[in-house]
Amino acid sequence: MELDGRVTGRTQLIGLLGNPVEHSVSPQLHNTISRYLQKDLLYMAFKVEKDNLGDAVKGLKALNVLGFNVTIPYKRDIMAYLDDISEDAARIGAVNTVKNVGGKLLGSNTDADGFARSFQKQTGSDMRGKRVLLLGAGGAARAIAVKAIAEGASAVYVANRTETKAVELVEAVQRGASCELHGCSLEEIRDRDLFLSMDVIVNTTSVGTYPKVQECLLEASTVFRSDQVVVDIIANPAVTRLMELARSYGCTTQNGLGMLFYQGILAYEAWTEERLPEDVVEMAFKAFQNVLNKAD
Ligand code: ATR
Repeated sequence: MELDGRVTGRTQLIGLLGNPVEHSVSPQLHNTISRYLQKDLLYMAFKVEKDNLGDAVKGLKALNVLGFNVTIPYKRDIMAYLDDISEDAARIGAVNTVKNVGGKLLGSNTDADGFARSFQKQTGSDMRGKRVLLLGAGGAARAIAVKAIAEGASAVYVANRTETKAVELVEAVQRGASCELHGCSLEEIRDRDLFLSMDVIVNTTSVGTYPKVQECLLEASTVFRSDQVVVDIIANPAVTRLMELARSYGCTTQNGLGMLFYQGILAYEAWTEERLPEDVVEMAFKAFQNVLNKAD
């Protein structure tokens, strides 16, 4: 027998707090990168009950972990237990990454930047000057709206089943924004000219996720412009009904894998304070895709 040297007395811990966490691919992603780069870090997922969230955070702080991720359903609740929150995370109203800086826990949000980095990677550009339509008005929509405004989108429309929530989202993010902002119902964006005036369309809801893969927030009769970019933040299936529909008009489409992947990469870079080499990111993305494409 040989002693296993992967975890030693010097290994630093990174955690994930959420419920459930069993299906998270983050431990595999982060530990693969750490092993490849020979960084003495260990990423562990912890399923935490709601009543224990405060104690869990206190515990991680006392153990002096390097940092942790936060996932559903605690991205909002976690903010009450942190020492400071980045401006972006405060605007988005959610934290998914926490970094231990000299014993203080600082919360940030890499979901929006993850979306932007993935968008940039696929399209070669950012959202500057673009008319962006977001379908849905939950946490993901708010993060992407904040990012689209920050990148200089010329318009951000939020269309939602419950119109009041779309209007509230727009009100929550409009401070300091110079672009056109509008919250509306899903019916309103059925207007053909309005829909065709959009450059980027993002489904931020879970509608169309496995196993209900035939569902789609847009009607089958929707007409797209071939130069519209259509993003679905769903990762499973890899090609959603919405993406299929858009592809039939020649649109560039993108699923949610990139956003999921890059939010993790950005968190890793925040904890280690180093930009990951591009070739490592590429390799990790392929491995990440393989794991998720095998999952049901
Ligand atoms: P998250 O924080 O992950 O973005 P959320 O806050 O639960 O998720 O938001 C879910 C979004 O998906 C909401 O905009 C919701 O619309 P409502 O505000 O009307 O509830 C939208 N959504 C979920 N299921 C839907 C469905 N079957 N049809 C239309 N919209 C749906």
